[in-house]
Amino acid sequence: MGFAIAVDGPAASGKGTIAVKLGALYGYPVLDSGLLYRAVGMKVLGQGGDLADEAAATAAARSLEPSELEGPVVRTRAAGEAASRVAIYTPVRRVLRDFQRDFALQEPGAVIDGRDIGTVIAPDAPAKLYVTATPEARAMRRWKQLVGQGETVTYEDILADIHTRDARDSARADSPMVAAPDAVLLDTTEMTIDAAFDAARRIVEAARSRWETAKG
Ligand code: C5P
Repeated sequence: MGFAIAVDGPAASGKGTIAVKLGALYGYPVLDSGLLYRAVGMKVLGQGGDLADEAAATAAARSLEPSELEGPVVRTRAAGEAASRVAIYTPVRRVLRDFQRDFALQEPGAVIDGRDIGTVIAPDAPAKLYVTATPEARAMRRWKQLVGQGETVTYEDILADIHTRDARDSARADSPMVAAPDAVLLDTTEMTIDAAFDAARRIVEAARSRWETAKG
């Protein structure tokens, strides 16, 4: 196993930005695992299917192509909502698991952000962060991002989405959103992006020293 960095946390906590910056710092590839679930959800909808149809979601996951993770559609509000609905299905999670595990284990290292990376995908990752912020701070960030992408939504709509998504992601039976016992919590509510990254970098550097010492 390389130096795997697991960055978990709720929607719009800043984990994606932190993951990308950590990847650039170490020269490691970065996987935004939420894109996998977003692409599955949008594929079901694109085929005229129903998000309540577990078999359709599983088939969509099985036939997922890398090109389906790209483009603006998977970044929309609708994709986030669809993602959290297909993410409750165990067969969908199982299909996506091996790809994420292989990515996490690659040498010399990798960064993955998601909800269950430190708990299920890479429980032995030497560096684990759990990035949070208040629902209001996260809603404000996500609202600005979506408006910047040209979507017409209100802050109140996005705050409601965030609450719904947090509840669904935390309550699901398979791989719920929860901090791994050995993850370091990072609350970015009052932080700028630079401050949040700096704090994350220091946490990961400390983990890296411990990992190198243990390797001998
Ligand atoms: O991180 P992002 O907001 O793109 O994730 C979209 C949804 O995908 C989450 O709300 C969650 O339901 C699901 N997800 C997951 N496990 C992951 C990443 C995302 O269940 N590792």
